[in-house]
Amino acid sequence: MRRRVIAGNWKMYKTQAETRAFFTAFLPLVAGAGHCDIVIAPPYPSLAAAAEAARGSAVGIAAQNVFWEKEGAFTGEVSAGMLAEAGCRYAIIGHSERRQFFGETDETVAKRSKAALAAGLTPIVCVGELLAEREGGKTEEVLGRQFRGGPGSLTAEEFSRILLAYEPVWAIGTGRVATPEIAAAAHRSLRQCAAEKFSAAAASALRILYGGSVKPDNIKGLMAQEELDGALVGGASLDAKSFAAIVNH
Ligand code: 13P
Repeated sequence: MRRRVIAGNWKMYKTQAETRAFFTAFLPLVAGAGHCDIVIAPPYPSLAAAAEAARGSAVGIAAQNVFWEKEGAFTGEVSAGMLAEAGCRYAIIGHSERRQFFGETDETVAKRSKAALAAGLTPIVCVGELLAEREGGKTEEVLGRQFRGGPGSLTAEEFSRILLAYEPVWAIGTGRVATPEIAAAAHRSLRQCAAEKFSAAAASALRILYGGSVKPDNIKGLMAQEELDGALVGGASLDAKSFAAIVNH
């Protein structure tokens, strides 16, 4: 049985004060949630405030990116060790917004993942197709390429410690959630990639989260699919009540 993960990606939202206020409201609402891992990814300046607020709770903190060098003249970048010290246990890697706006490639996804793992962080590696790729019947091909160039290039030991997130770009921030069946089919194809590259056991142990317009009113249908091992939630994770409703679905 794969343990489910419900993760919130705050993107570029919430100051430190807003982060503290969120945790004050959120933690009591999920105090009884033993059925899944809960993760929240605030922007860098709010990480330490989040880690402090989450201390002693079951909520893990994630960074939204990580650089692959340990230190050096890399203005604007943050290392995995620095993130771990700030209280992070996870790092989101290769989010489609990083791929679209900041030149992220499958190769840099692999480098970031290795660095995160070396520092003891759990990478949440994101993959997903564009609308034109889905409409052109290229979804499996795109997912296969992103898998092989990114998480598929890790060692088997490294791969056993990552989480994958399937985030179809057309569903992100659009309110157009993938149907549970569409999401499950994509997850199966990613799991097949893992089986081919690593082993059947590695594939069946892999946890794959679905992301893209997950809301309190569609989480139940998504989680009814055995293939979906959790969710990566954007907009609906910003409000304590709505994210708690997703966790407690
Ligand atoms: P939304 O839930 O706002 O569609 O965002 C999804 C996402 O990008 C999570 O990483």
